[in-house]
Amino acid sequence: MRIGIDAMALAVPRGYLELADLAEARGVAAGKFVEGLGVRRMAVAAAHEDPVALAANAARRLFARSGRSPSEIGLCVVGTETAVDHSKPIAAYLHGLLGLPERCRVFEAKHACFGGTAGLLGAVDWIAAGALAGSSPRVALVVCTDVARYGIGTPGEPTQGAGAVAMIVSAEPRLVALDLGRSGSFARDVHDFWRPLDRKEALVDGHYSVACYLDALAGAFGAWREPAPSTELARTCYHVPYGKMAKKAHRHRCAIEGREAEADASFEREVAPSLVLPSLVGNVYTGSLYLALASLLDGEARILEGERIGLFSYGSGCTAEFFSGVVVAGAARTVEELALAAPLADRARLTVAEYEAIRRADEAADRAPVGTLVPPGAALAQTISYLGVEDGKRIYSN
Ligand code: HMG
Repeated sequence: MRIGIDAMALAVPRGYLELADLAEARGVAAGKFVEGLGVRRMAVAAAHEDPVALAANAARRLFARSGRSPSEIGLCVVGTETAVDHSKPIAAYLHGLLGLPERCRVFEAKHACFGGTAGLLGAVDWIAAGALAGSSPRVALVVCTDVARYGIGTPGEPTQGAGAVAMIVSAEPRLVALDLGRSGSFARDVHDFWRPLDRKEALVDGHYSVACYLDALAGAFGAWREPAPSTELARTCYHVPYGKMAKKAHRHRCAIEGREAEADASFEREVAPSLVLPSLVGNVYTGSLYLALASLLDGEARILEGERIGLFSYGSGCTAEFFSGVVVAGAARTVEELALAAPLADRARLTVAEYEAIRRADEAADRAPVGTLVPPGAALAQTISYLGVEDGKRIYSN
């Protein structure tokens, strides 16, 4: 049985900040953010581009480009750590905005940046357990969506970002067939990154979080590798809070494999192609690993058809999973049809003052009356936007 990722699509906010501009405003060398952290630009979500709107726009694009239809969805899971409600899941909003069938399992998954992977692996299990038996071809929709926020002027500030990655998971995957039953898990109760209920901005013990990530990688990769240590991976996508973290991760893994000497050279070949899109968007939390996968496929699907790739997902708090899959024959043609990177072409550069104004408006946005949020011209006809609150309910354009 083959199960895996059939199609993908991205959504990013319209505005982005050049990290060199942010560095200048904060009085640090641009090299610290651009080379030191490995980020060139970070996406900045305006109030109307909330995690529901980003998720819905990514999923809408997924249906438009993949040939799949909302009527085929039998499971819809949204991974997020920036949910808009303590009870109503983003998946319920998507159900309405996308017109998903009533015969559909719908829920939200949370474990920091791991929530999307929980959704993906849950969807794989759902198919493997026989959920499709006897039904017309039905597939799962997994959407990772987040707006990453740290305090203005904090060390985390240059590692923000925003965006959504929507994926179809099916038994006829056109992109990556996952290695069923082969994956390495890791968990440990740590306080490396968290967001108390009354805050929109995350709190983080930055350098400790890097150490936690690397410990989790060692545990998860070790568990994945154990049954067949000689399995070769042509490429590996790591969770990307910022590009340098993936480089540290790869070095750490190479040390575990006893190939430290070739770590930096193999990074350029095995990891760098997955960091192109993340370096232009920033940390999208649950979607970060899948933005890296989209980057890899966008650049190299043709040469990777038939090759095995590794995937490392990390969620602070913490849990992690190392898993793998094979890029299927024909993936390059599918990637072309999906035009994965196209949403990044239509963006507008923000000044630091504009970015700070957007961030200052964040708190009030959850209580803003309908009609007060979307700046004229910001909501395009084809785009789903958060419009504000009416009778205590969030309202979206569609
Ligand atoms: P910092 O302490 O301000 O930065 O913040 P630094 O002093 O460590 O410098 C960063 C790098 O820039 C260093 O490179 C410097 O040498 C270099 P490294 O030693 O690491 O290789 N540098 C320069 N390079 C070139 N030219 C220069 C220059 N100056 C310095 N002029 C920190 C860094 C990551 C701590 C901060 O950004 C932060 O707190 N970020 C948020 C936390 C985070 O992203 N953690 C990652 C692991 S946890 C994770 O991934 C989970 C997460 O996604 C959340 C979730 O799961 O939900 C965050």
